[in-house]
Amino acid sequence: MASECALSFDRVTKVYRKGKMALSELSFEVPRGTTTALLGPNGAGKTTAIKILVGLTEPTSGRVEIGGMPFSADRRPFQRLVGYVGQFTSVEVTATAQQNLELQAALFRLPPAVRRQRIEYLSHLFELDRLGDKRAMSLSGGQKRRLDIAMALVHDPQILIMDEPTVSLDVEGEREVWQHLVATRREQELTLLFSTHYLDQADRYAENILFINHGRLVTAGSPTALKELVEGDTITLSCADSNAAARGYELIEPLPFIEAVSVQGANLIAVAKDGPRVIARLVGQLQEAGLTVEQVQVSRPSLNDVYTLLTGDDFEAVDAAGRPIPKPQFGRPF
Ligand SMILES: Nc1ncnc2c1ncn2[C@@H]1O[C@H](COP(=O)(O)OP(=O)(O)O)[C@@H](O)[C@H]1O
Ligand SMILES: [Mg+2]
Repeated sequence: MASECALSFDRVTKVYRKGKMALSELSFEVPRGTTTALLGPNGAGKTTAIKILVGLTEPTSGRVEIGGMPFSADRRPFQRLVGYVGQFTSVEVTATAQQNLELQAALFRLPPAVRRQRIEYLSHLFELDRLGDKRAMSLSGGQKRRLDIAMALVHDPQILIMDEPTVSLDVEGEREVWQHLVATRREQELTLLFSTHYLDQADRYAENILFINHGRLVTAGSPTALKELVEGDTITLSCADSNAAARGYELIEPLPFIEAVSVQGANLIAVAKDGPRVIARLVGQLQEAGLTVEQVQVSRPSLNDVYTLLTGDDFEAVDAAGRPIPKPQFGRPF
């Protein structure tokens, strides 16, 4: 690929039949050789964007490029460039891991020598060679997902696109799958684009995050750069009970060095530019008013704080409910 950009969307809009707009003038670029997360709550448009990239649905308008080539009616060059792991497994459960890989290699008409070499390499890399002759139906969720990914890589694509790769897995399965993905990225030149609604997964594994919501790009950048958008530290002050916290809110909210404050149960959560320096002043102020502070914690902002800053919604609340729930107790937005 000559281009430094592995793939791009330029003002892509997708309106489904019945008029549902899933993507609205969405533009982004995925730099070549990066691990990029398409991050957003449920309903943000992640699956739609991925389906467009792998040719499973057509954009209503806009321009899509992969490997520097604009989309055309002939999808064969793109099929060669891209490996795709959908949200649901494409493993044939009555066959073994080895047979699944062979089937996939046959679909891509790999020459026998290449086929053998590639299957051996991927079986080893994804530790599938240890599974023996077990049929895929008896594999664990993590093992099946590893097989799915190895199958998507059989034809040696330059770009691997995965839709919510660990969504149905437990913590152990998720860790295991990512361990193998990280190892794969170390072994071969690969651009990895994955969608997720887990903030921590994007934070941990992506070098580049495309934050989307309501079919639009909210922001893009490295996890560190995004977190730097929220200036300040989060200070959590545990009070005796929720009444004490509510009284504390009234005292803290007007202070000039406080960017934002909210009450969550017995906790007061404040955002301030220089957290460690302002703690003593906050605790002093509360104690003067007869309120005891039982515990104090200072933390760096999370991606959830970035999302709240940019959209005014709480990511986890949106995700759980599928629609935004405003945080009524925030005195001021971040
Ligand atoms: N085939 C479809 N027909 C109509 N609406 C759809 C279809 N697929 C998805 N949508 C809607 O488009 C929006 C984006 O969906 P999707 O791309 O699946 O989001 P995500 O993967 O981020 O959860 C949602 O509101 C969803 O209900
Ligand atoms: Mg989805």
